[in-house]
Amino acid sequence: MREAMAAAEVGDDVLDGDPTMAALQDRVAELVGTEAALWTPSGSMGNIIAMMAHLKRGDAFLAPAGAHVLDAELGTPAWLAGGMPRPLPHDAGPGRISPDAVVRAAGKDAPYYALRTTLLCLENTHMSAGGTVTEVDQHAALAAAARDAGLTVHLDGARLWHAAVALGLPPAALTVGVDTVQVCLSKGLGAPVGSVVAGSAEFIAEARRLRKMLGGGVRQGGVLAAAGLVALDNIERLAEDHVRAARLASGLAERGWQVNEPATNIVLMWPADLSSTLRRFEQAGVLAVPMGNAVRFVTHGDLTDADIETALARIGPVEAPSTRPA
Ligand SMILES: Cc1ncc(COP(=O)(O)O)c(C=O)c1O
Repeated sequence: MREAMAAAEVGDDVLDGDPTMAALQDRVAELVGTEAALWTPSGSMGNIIAMMAHLKRGDAFLAPAGAHVLDAELGTPAWLAGGMPRPLPHDAGPGRISPDAVVRAAGKDAPYYALRTTLLCLENTHMSAGGTVTEVDQHAALAAAARDAGLTVHLDGARLWHAAVALGLPPAALTVGVDTVQVCLSKGLGAPVGSVVAGSAEFIAEARRLRKMLGGGVRQGGVLAAAGLVALDNIERLAEDHVRAARLASGLAERGWQVNEPATNIVLMWPADLSSTLRRFEQAGVLAVPMGNAVRFVTHGDLTDADIETALARIGPVEAPSTRPA
C-alpha cells in the first residue's frame, strides 16, 4: 500500500482533478452501483455531506437506534444538516428495523407545525449492534417502503463490504433503492485515510461543494486514493476476519463470557463490571473498547489465528457472572 502511495500519479484535486482520485471514485461507483462517487477524508464527512444534501431545517430523519449518525457523530446531522434524529427500535432483529416501522414513523399527514420526516438513514453492517447484517430482501423492502412514504434513503455503508462478503454478494446488491451511500476504505480494508460517498452525478456535484465547505477538499489526493485502490483489493480477505471473530466469540463463550454470535468482524462481550474488566484485559495485553455496557473487539487484517488464541489465553475465564442486557 505504501509503495502504491509513493508511486501514485497525482494532480490537483481541488482545481482540475487528480487521475488516481478519479480512478478510485469510478471504481467505487461501479462497485456500489451508482452513477458517480466522491472521495472524503472520513466516513463521518461522507455521512454529513449526504445529510446536508438531503435535509433542511425543520426536517426529521429516521435511523435504527444506535446508528453511528445518531450516537457517534456529535449530533452533526442535527446542528450542521438541520435534521432532528428519530431513532427506530430494532424490531426486525439486532441492528434491523422493519418496513412497517419506517412507514409508521414517516407520518405522512402531519400538521404544518410538525417536523417533516424526509430521510431514512440505514446502516449495514450495523456497528453498535455487533456488525449485524441486513440481508438483500430486508434491505430492498426497507428502501421501497421509505420511497413509497416519500423519503430519501442514505446508507451508511462504512462496513458494507463486510455485509457483502458475509452474504457472498456484490456490494451493489445491498444498495438497491438508495439515493446515496457512504463506504469506508479504512477500518477492515486497511487504508490509513478515506471514505467515498456515492450517488447520482447531480448529488456528487453538490457533494463536492459541501466537501469544500467542510474543509475536505485535498490537493495531490492521489497519494491517498492509491491507498484506497489497494484497500479495495482486500474485500474478499474480510472473510478471514469473520472466521477469526467467530473463533474469538466461541473461545470467549467456552471461558464463560457472555458474547454475541458475530455475523461479521465485531465481537461484543457483556461483563459484570465493564471498567474493571477492560483494566484487567489491558494489563494482560489485550486492548478492546467499551461500547455501551459491552466490550467491543474487532478483528482485522493485522491479526493472525495465533493472535486470537493468544488473546483468549490472556483473557482467561470469566471471574464473576456476567449480565447481558435484554
Ligand atoms: C457505521 C459507521 N459509520 C461511520 C463511521 C465513521 O467513520 P470515520 O471514523 O472514518 O469518520 C464509523 C466509524 O467507526 C462507523 O462505524
